[in-house]
Amino acid sequence: MAKIDWDNLGFNVVETRSMYKARCRQGEPWKSGGLIPYGTIKLSPAAGVLNYGQGCFEGTKAYQTAKDRVVLFRPEMNAKRMVMSTRRLCIPEMNQEFFLQAVEETLKDNIDYVPPYNKGSLYIRPIVWGTSPAIGVRPVEEYTFMVFVSPVGPYFKGGGKPLRLIVSNDYHRAAPKGIGDAKAIGNYSASLYPLTEAKNRGFDEVIYLDAKNEKFVEEVGSANLFALKGNTLITPRLSGSILPGVTRDSIIALAKEKLGLEMLETDVTLTELYDADEVFCTGTAVVVTAVGSITDLDGEHRIADEKMGRLTSKLKEMITGIQHEDIPDEFGWLYPIKE
Ligand SMILES: Cc1ncc(COP(=O)(O)O)c(C=O)c1O
Repeated sequence: MAKIDWDNLGFNVVETRSMYKARCRQGEPWKSGGLIPYGTIKLSPAAGVLNYGQGCFEGTKAYQTAKDRVVLFRPEMNAKRMVMSTRRLCIPEMNQEFFLQAVEETLKDNIDYVPPYNKGSLYIRPIVWGTSPAIGVRPVEEYTFMVFVSPVGPYFKGGGKPLRLIVSNDYHRAAPKGIGDAKAIGNYSASLYPLTEAKNRGFDEVIYLDAKNEKFVEEVGSANLFALKGNTLITPRLSGSILPGVTRDSIIALAKEKLGLEMLETDVTLTELYDADEVFCTGTAVVVTAVGSITDLDGEHRIADEKMGRLTSKLKEMITGIQHEDIPDEFGWLYPIKE
């Protein structure tokens, strides 16, 4: 194993020992697969995924905890979302047990790549795509499922500084009744151009509005959004074009059940974000990250200064505390890995 600088992990691909691979044909169940050495793969130029974007993926993390063991955080939710995504993309529907067993097998074989306690986490990427060739637009015959892993640190550079976001006026992330609620690869290709434009202008990420009315906020890049006003925490309702985040679901539970906040899943306007006491975004990669300012056509709206808000820090501390077993896992969210 190459030496890894655990103190300076970013959010990059680090090659590890092995990856999981399985194949499945249309109409058959997902079964039997196995570990192979980490490396490149061969693919037909006519593969369904390359030509028509028939692919979807997941993202979860493994943590080295204070109890000196490795745990996953709610991987069953990723398994369920993978079922939903595969169904929507006409990929043989993922089997939840199969998914979990593949994740676990890959993790166990690469367990020494899990960063030490509080130095980061092992990002786990299950991905499935149409392998066989198609020249006409249709679901292909054969599919490949793989799981690879990479040790990661923070998603955003800047040491937790609140993000500078820009509202996208020229682009939408996902259409109503489209594939926005699936973790489909095409959603991410649609976001690359707006993201690049935003970064070129010095912003960290993009806020997308709903494609129908351009009135309600949906997501921030690859994270869900929350706003606190007084004792009420609001987040965009799952309208069909928003990804149902595992972190989003966990934050809702913590806010309601542990912090006694009023929690509303509703339509959220930009004005509500500008008027909020705190705004933050959530995701497996971004964890809980404060939003410092939002720029729209009228200019910059400042929400936070250099520091994360009180509730944002509290929720971040709670969720990372559970993930690292610094505080009890009262919701039964942890999935310990037995070596
Ligand atoms: C578009 C999008 N929204 C939200 C999220 C957050 O979801 P989760 O908390 O399950 O990582 C992600 C990341 O996976 C995402 O890609």
